[in-house]
Amino acid sequence: MEKSRKGPIIFSTIKPFAGLKESLKIGRSEVLDQVRNSNIRGRGGAGFPTGVKWNLTATATDNKKYVICNADEGEPGTFKDRVLLGEYAKLVFEGMVICAFAVGADEGILYLRGEYISFLPELDKTLNQMRKDNLLGENILSKKGFNFDIKIRLGVGAYVCGEETSLIESLEGHRGEPRNKPPFPTNTGFNGHPTVINNVETFAAIAHVVLKGATWFKSFGTDKSSGSKLISVSGDCRKPGVYEIPFGTTLKKVLKMVDAKDTKAVQVGGASGTCVSKKDFKRMIAFEDLSTGGSIIIFNQKRNLLDVAENFLNFFAEESCGQCTPCREGIPVLIEKLKKIKNIKATKGDIEDIFSLAETMQLASKCGLGQTASDALISILNSFKKEYTLAKS
Ligand SMILES: Cc1cc2nc3c(=O)[nH]c(=O)nc-3n(C[C@H](O)[C@H](O)[C@H](O)COP(=O)(O)O)c2cc1C
Ligand code: SF4
Repeated sequence: MEKSRKGPIIFSTIKPFAGLKESLKIGRSEVLDQVRNSNIRGRGGAGFPTGVKWNLTATATDNKKYVICNADEGEPGTFKDRVLLGEYAKLVFEGMVICAFAVGADEGILYLRGEYISFLPELDKTLNQMRKDNLLGENILSKKGFNFDIKIRLGVGAYVCGEETSLIESLEGHRGEPRNKPPFPTNTGFNGHPTVINNVETFAAIAHVVLKGATWFKSFGTDKSSGSKLISVSGDCRKPGVYEIPFGTTLKKVLKMVDAKDTKAVQVGGASGTCVSKKDFKRMIAFEDLSTGGSIIIFNQKRNLLDVAENFLNFFAEESCGQCTPCREGIPVLIEKLKKIKNIKATKGDIEDIFSLAETMQLASKCGLGQTASDALISILNSFKKEYTLAKS
C-alpha cells in the first residue's frame, strides 16, 4: 500500500526499476561515477561516502562478492527503515540490484531486524515477483552474465549486530561481536569476500541518483551533505512520524513541522547522539553539523534530562557485547557517577572523572557503541547545567 508521503527524493515518485534499466543502459563504470559524483553518504549513521565504498568493492579482485542491506534498525528512536521496508521495498531491492551490477556481486542479503518479522511474507512476495519479472536471477533483464539474487536473514534483537562487522559475524553463524578494522568489509566481508554493506535508506536513494543524475541529486542539501534525509521524529510533539527533509534543515524548522511546543531539548542521533538545547535550535541536520542516522527525540520542559541520560546508559550497558574493557567497564562507572549527580552527591571531581572516562571510551573502544555511549550524557552535562546541582566538595 503506497501512502502519500512527500519528499524531494526518496518520497518522490519514479517508475519502479527505471533506475535499474538505466543502469544497464549506461554500464557499470558510469553507475559508479554517478554514485561517486552525487557525493551521497551512507544514511545508517556513520556517513561514509557510498561511491568510495562501491568503488573499493568493485575494484577488489575476487570471483565472489556480496551486497548486504543493513535493515537492523536498532538505534532508539529510529523507525524510518521500517517505513521504507513496508512501503518502498521495491525501491530498496532495486538499489541492491544496481549495486550488484556496479560492483560485480552475485549474492545479496537483507539483514532484517528480528522485530520486523511481520514484514517477511510481503518482502518474500516482492522478491518472488522480481524473480518472475527477471529483475533477479540469471541474465537479469536479458543482460548476459548479470546474475544476482537476494535472500533475507533475520537478526535476533542485538543492537550491536547493526554494526557492520558484527552483522557479518552474526550472518556467518558466530556471536555478534564487532571485528577489528581493517580489514574492511569492502575487501574482506561476508565469508571473507568483498562486500558492500549499506543502510536501507542509502539503497532506496540509488535508483533516483542513477535515473536523475548526480547533479540533480546535489541540488538538494548542503555542499558537504548532498540530498535528503529521512528522519523519524518521536517524543513531545503533536505530529510524530517519518519525514524527508533536505540536508541543511534547521532543528527549529523540524520542530515547527512536527508541531512541538515548549521544547526543552532535542536528542539528535538516538541514544548515541547529542542532546541539543534551545540556544542551538538554529543548528542544522547535516553531516557537518548535527549528524543523525534518523532519530530525533523531542523533550519538553517537564522532562528530566538526567533520567534521559540514565535511560540511554542503561540501554548501552545491556547492549554492550563486553569484548573490550573501556566499554564494558566504563558504562557502569558512568551510571554510578550519574546516580551520584541525581542524588546531589557528586562533586566537581566526579564531573571531571566523567569527562576523562568518556574521552578514554571514545578513544579506546573497539566499535561505535563504546565510542559514543557517553555522548548523550556529556552533551547534557555541558548544555543543561541547570539540570543538576553539585555537592560541596
Ligand atoms: C552499535 C552500532 C549499531 C549500528 N546499527 C546500525 C543499524 O541498525 N543500521 C545501519 O544501517 N547501520 C548501523 N550501524 C552502522 C553500520 O556499522 C554501517 O556503518 C552502515 O550499515 C553502513 O551503511 P551506510 O554507509 O549506508 O550508512 C551501526 C553501527 C554501530 C556502531
Ligand atoms: S565498544 Fe562495546 S560493543 Fe563495541 S566491541 Fe567493545 S565492548 Fe563490544
